[in-house]
Amino acid sequence: MPEKRDLIFVVDFGGQYTQLIARRIRELKVYCEIVPSTASWAELRKRSPRGLIFSGGPASVYAPGAPRCGSELLQGEIPVLGICYGMQLMAYLLGGKVSRGERREYGPARLTLLREDFLFRGLPREISVWMSHGDLVETPPPGFLIAATTDQTRVAAMFDPSRHLYGVQFHPEVHHTPQGREILAGFLYNVCGCRGDWTPASFITEQVEEIRRIVGKEKVIGALSGGVDSAVAATLAHKAVGDQLTCIFVDHGLLRKEERNEVEKTFRKELGIRTVVVDARKRFLEKLKGVGDPEEKRRVIGHEFIRVFEEEAARLGEAGFLLQGTLYPDVIESGSQTAAVIKTHHNVGGLPADLKLRLLEPLRWLFKDEVRQVGLELGLPEAIIWRQPFPGPGLAVRILGEVTGEKLEVVQEADLIVRDEIRRAGLEREIWQFFAVLLPVRSVGVMGDERTYAHPIVIRAVTSEDAMTADWARLPSGVLARISSRIVNEVPGVNRVLYDITSKPPATIEWE
Ligand code: XMP
Repeated sequence: MPEKRDLIFVVDFGGQYTQLIARRIRELKVYCEIVPSTASWAELRKRSPRGLIFSGGPASVYAPGAPRCGSELLQGEIPVLGICYGMQLMAYLLGGKVSRGERREYGPARLTLLREDFLFRGLPREISVWMSHGDLVETPPPGFLIAATTDQTRVAAMFDPSRHLYGVQFHPEVHHTPQGREILAGFLYNVCGCRGDWTPASFITEQVEEIRRIVGKEKVIGALSGGVDSAVAATLAHKAVGDQLTCIFVDHGLLRKEERNEVEKTFRKELGIRTVVVDARKRFLEKLKGVGDPEEKRRVIGHEFIRVFEEEAARLGEAGFLLQGTLYPDVIESGSQTAAVIKTHHNVGGLPADLKLRLLEPLRWLFKDEVRQVGLELGLPEAIIWRQPFPGPGLAVRILGEVTGEKLEVVQEADLIVRDEIRRAGLEREIWQFFAVLLPVRSVGVMGDERTYAHPIVIRAVTSEDAMTADWARLPSGVLARISSRIVNEVPGVNRVLYDITSKPPATIEWE
């Protein structure tokens, strides 16, 4: 189906910055999707894209098995911008010459612009750009002009405006190329004629229509986790189909304090979404009895969650769709090989595999920051929009060893104090995650005149971009002091507070 809005395809040649290119284009208010390099022009053209961007990639165009695309993409029917490997491939497929550079060029370079044209319009004659390549284009293909050069790379940009083909050896998508945004904007607006009509509001209008069209008169069920993704997905679906949607929120007892009340208040009362809250606390605790191994805990919780969800879904009667808060990076990554399993990340609120429902995934084209923008536009409370990531198995992975009702209470109280003090210090947005962990060991302390023999609480606070790597947060000592003194005074059963000063790697963010 042709698109109503402008569409750009990012053709992926395996580059580490492919997702970043897509995000930059969206930031310039142009909708784009990433497609594999094997996609044929016959397929792509059905959706009437305005332009293609060829990503970078680690291969050499001459290497056996190097990713290629058909040369029919380069016939001038559609504008193409090739970045790094994308430019080398363009040169190779159109009869230019690509060669091995004498040495890898990595880092900043001074770029001298030789032509203004569409891409570089309005830029100074010299700009700073980021290079990361081994091969380079030695001779551009017939019809191309050299548009920019650096000391080490003669063909740092090449254009064939008559066929709307553009190549840059450097990376306009990374922030080390300060004018990269203007260069990408030049391609999108000047070359492809995009209007910049992609906004959260336009996304909402389109999705609401789309959900109505797909769902028709059928019923939809969804799981709420309290997190931003499931909340935005539910609010969108509710806007589209109203009471045809029922959300299920499973209180497995491993939640943070007040979490269940907040979900009930927001979804049921404020947003008017049909929400079934299942009190399964006893059931989960029962199942977790005697379970100390972290992976076993995850398995038990995941399994039980699905059973509870299925029972509730059956009680609600015939539904046609299961609503999921899947995001674009999950969609992209599910196509790639998974790395070694460090922890099985059971996504509570996730897939009951054999529910036989069709999936409704309205966020599957969005990046996380876009989900937040859509959520704000939909009027969701900031507390949900900016909620810190919370593991599906909840506090069970923050109570080392066996989980019991008493330990849950201890960790919930301590966690509340940590959250409260971080919020008071105004550090909520700076810190990626902050929480309390209860250790199964005991140590000696003294309280009043009494000897105590009780458990320690560990405070974990980390900064991170994406949870793949993380650093321990340099919390002000005053904040740490207040947290410590409040926990030992207010939480029975705790006589010592520790601060975890390990980064990830080698540690992980959670303790289990
Ligand atoms: P780690 O501990 O692996 O955590 O550094 C990285 C991020 O994932 C979250 N996490 C989980 N999320 N189910 C989830 O849905 C899980 O089993 C799980 N374990 C860890 C963790 O909070 C951090 O944001």
